[in-house]
Amino acid sequence: MSKKGLGFVLSAIMIAMLALTGCGGSKATGESKSVESSETSGESKSEEAKSEESKDSSKLIVVGYAQVGAESDWRTANTESFKTTFVPENGYKLIFNDAQQKQENQIKAIRDFIQQEVDYIVLAPVVETGWDTVLQEAKDAGIPVILSDRMIKTSDDSLYTALVCGNFVKEGETAGHWLEDYLKLKGRNHDESINIVTLQGTIGASAQVGRTDGFGNILSQHPNWKMLAKQTGEFTQSKGQEVMESFLKQFDNIDVVVAENDNMAFGAIDAIKAAGKTCGPNGDITVISFDAVKAAFDAMIAGDLNVSVECNPLHGPRVAEIIQKLEKGETVDKIQYVDETYFDTSMDLEKIKAERAY
Ligand code: AHR
Repeated sequence: MSKKGLGFVLSAIMIAMLALTGCGGSKATGESKSVESSETSGESKSEEAKSEESKDSSKLIVVGYAQVGAESDWRTANTESFKTTFVPENGYKLIFNDAQQKQENQIKAIRDFIQQEVDYIVLAPVVETGWDTVLQEAKDAGIPVILSDRMIKTSDDSLYTALVCGNFVKEGETAGHWLEDYLKLKGRNHDESINIVTLQGTIGASAQVGRTDGFGNILSQHPNWKMLAKQTGEFTQSKGQEVMESFLKQFDNIDVVVAENDNMAFGAIDAIKAAGKTCGPNGDITVISFDAVKAAFDAMIAGDLNVSVECNPLHGPRVAEIIQKLEKGETVDKIQYVDETYFDTSMDLEKIKAERAY
């Protein structure tokens, strides 16, 4: 038997004894929690210390987080938010899984969480569709699922307990309205063609679908705005750069790039400069992006990026608040959108950046 397996058995016996003597924690103590305690206890600790640790661990609320990946600065800030919120000092044990942008990895992670009998599953779904079967399995196991960051498409809303995310359609519309105002300010009138390309996020992700649709809603009100091409840059800087390079080879008349996240915008800026063009408020090409991470503030301050529409990644405390309410038997709002704004080069960016957490 492996050391981990031995620890598992010892911890399970200790927890069973505690339960028999009525000294167990208020939360149901599944085998997975025993595994958690054995994982954190060192070999050299006394049995007494191990027992104390096991007792404490058994009280922790176990949360499995099926994260999308590590594709962007936004995602890093989101992971950090969960890792710093769901800590033992706050009463949690976090089991974190990075799916490397693959839905099959997220489905596998959810099945692992179910097997480990976690108390809650948090899912940031890489794409919107294809979740019904695995979420039904979680429901059958009695584990509440909280969607964080992105939405899913399902005909059965009971498959998840709550959703907390940005309103992606609104974000896309904000970007469109910003462009309307900017062109007006620049005196570019209705007769002039405004040639636009879009670097889309992961196709089928609600952040991509919503931002594309939202911007499209405003574009459809402007017959002179021409969408030359849309292609995915998969929310990564390298792919954003690669796709922008190909756009620049195909079109010599690009006025505006809409990058559906900051990292793709950074890649696009590199491609624009490498092609001998300029961008930003005083350049040839206007660059619009989403997220508003600190590096986007730097790009705006440097004069390369025009605007970044905010998408707030700090969902850890929001999800914790939902869990705390559920623990108390309170009802929670099914859909919770985070209030968001935008930042552009007309603002005091140094000051705003200094006050931001990500
Ligand atoms: O779902 C949020 C999006 O996903 C962010 O815009 C992007 O940076 C991330 O990868």
